[in-house]
Amino acid sequence: MSDNRPVILITGACGGMGQACARLLGHRYRLALTDMDQARLDILADTLADEGHEVLVRIAGDMGDITVPATIVRAARAEGRLAGVVHAAGLSPALAPWDKILMANLVATERLLQQMVRVGDRYGAGSPAYNYSKAAVIRMCERRAAAWARVGRRIVSISPGTMRTPMGVKEAADNPAARAAIVATPFGMGSVLHIANAVDFLLSERAGFITGTDLRIDGGLVPAIRQTRAAEG
Ligand SMILES: NC(=O)c1ccc[n+]([C@@H]2O[C@H](COP(=O)([O-])OP(=O)(O)OC[C@H]3O[C@@H](n4cnc5c(N)ncnc54)[C@H](O)[C@@H]3O)[C@@H](O)[C@H]2O)c1
Repeated sequence: MSDNRPVILITGACGGMGQACARLLGHRYRLALTDMDQARLDILADTLADEGHEVLVRIAGDMGDITVPATIVRAARAEGRLAGVVHAAGLSPALAPWDKILMANLVATERLLQQMVRVGDRYGAGSPAYNYSKAAVIRMCERRAAAWARVGRRIVSISPGTMRTPMGVKEAADNPAARAAIVATPFGMGSVLHIANAVDFLLSERAGFITGTDLRIDGGLVPAIRQTRAAEG
């Protein structure tokens, strides 16, 4: 087999999916493997080598650690053309508490993707984190709704556009994406009263049948963005 076969990086290589991918892909690619535990990884790498696969990288580490994804991607790239990554590292509810799951499944994945392809983020590095966290909060509220309803309680999340508060004013001053959002909002920057009025309504009996939903109060920003995207094809 030619030595210039491309390299494939496999995270969670010792796990069920990771091992299966390593074994299959090892016929076409040279392997860069990572998982949590060095001893397990060495056993796997030696076994794969005995089976005829070429394992170039075997570096253990926690993918949630800030330096680990960069270290592993750099090591894989040093061996040849990195054709891709199979990101099979992850945790499930039976294996870990919620904060470790978030770190492994969300933070580690974002860190790995940032290392794989650098396309720049016109919304700035904090933006994906903000968006993911808010998307998670919407789901967090939604999934409580049925249980809460059974004890007579309601829950609603609110997704504001850019509002005139200390946070909104600072974003408008410092963050070009926030300024662009205000320009794109048909009703411009929102007032805190727009939010307070909606909260007053949602807490009242008039909203007694509203639960498990998200209320977007954004002066038409999301529809405007969707229309622009549709027009751009
Ligand atoms: N098995 C399923 O039924 C199933 C279903 C849906 C999604 N998934 C997802 O598929 C992926 C692979 O699952 P699997 O079934 O092979 O799981 P697995 O537990 O067999 O393997 C996962 C591997 O990831 C490693 N790992 C976990 N957290 C890590 C971290 N922070 N840093 C480095 N390595 C870490 C573990 O050590 C393990 O070897 C996971 O993201 C999982 O959530 C699995």
